[in-house]
Amino acid sequence: MELKDQINKKKLPTHVAVIMDGNGRWAKKKGKHRIFGHKNGVTSVREITEAAAELGIKYLTLYAFSTENWNRPREEIDALMSLLVSSLSSEIKTLMKNNIRLLAIGDLKSLPSNVYKKLNSCIKKTAANTATSLVLAISYSSRWEIADAAKRIALEVSNGEINVEDINSDLLAKYINTLGIPDPDILIRTSGEYRVSNFLLWQIAYSELYFTNTLWPDFRKNNFFEAILNFQNRERRFGKTSEQVS
Ligand code: FPP
Repeated sequence: MELKDQINKKKLPTHVAVIMDGNGRWAKKKGKHRIFGHKNGVTSVREITEAAAELGIKYLTLYAFSTENWNRPREEIDALMSLLVSSLSSEIKTLMKNNIRLLAIGDLKSLPSNVYKKLNSCIKKTAANTATSLVLAISYSSRWEIADAAKRIALEVSNGEINVEDINSDLLAKYINTLGIPDPDILIRTSGEYRVSNFLLWQIAYSELYFTNTLWPDFRKNNFFEAILNFQNRERRFGKTSEQVS
């Protein structure tokens, strides 16, 4: 039986988050420049977005560029930014065809204006799509997001709009970038690195973590289906006992 057909459609994760890692190493293994790896990573982005839509997964969040990535060589940053713009232009067809809505999280104001404009125009064009939401994390990091939330809460406290006693995790969740998006059920990281690299730290409190050695440009639909099957065999307890949840 095909991997996809082994997936229990009644036990799908609502939200899958992915740290797409290994583009540079993939290119190096082929004797090519890192940017070649990023270019090939776009095919995996398309495949995994289609796979999520085929299964009926409601949210797919991809870590496309972290706030720390601004420290990479200028040439690589420029290539990644142009790749984002060209991919958004070429993939809009796939998004419309699959009824996918594009969203973005991160410090979007820090993006070059052409990237910001392109992103916003795709977000607007796909706003009425209802099947899957593809959330791109761009110029994103959790520490930035949480510090930004703290700043806005502090401002509202000083204006008298919020009482200090009302600050709790439910309130904080309303000030982070993923407002309205459920927490990821599973976080996938490719390329054999076992860390979460400042990604959705607040939101992954109870997410299942899945690590694979496959480098991102090699990650295909079947790799994604394998991760979903693995998720379906986990027992999620959310701090309760096994007996309580079964
Ligand atoms: C990590 O690999 C990957 C990135 C920093 C960028 C991911 C970007 C893409 C896949 C292309 C464009 C994205 C979209 C959404 C169209 P790495 O460079 O850290 O690899 P390494 O760890 O092997 O050096």
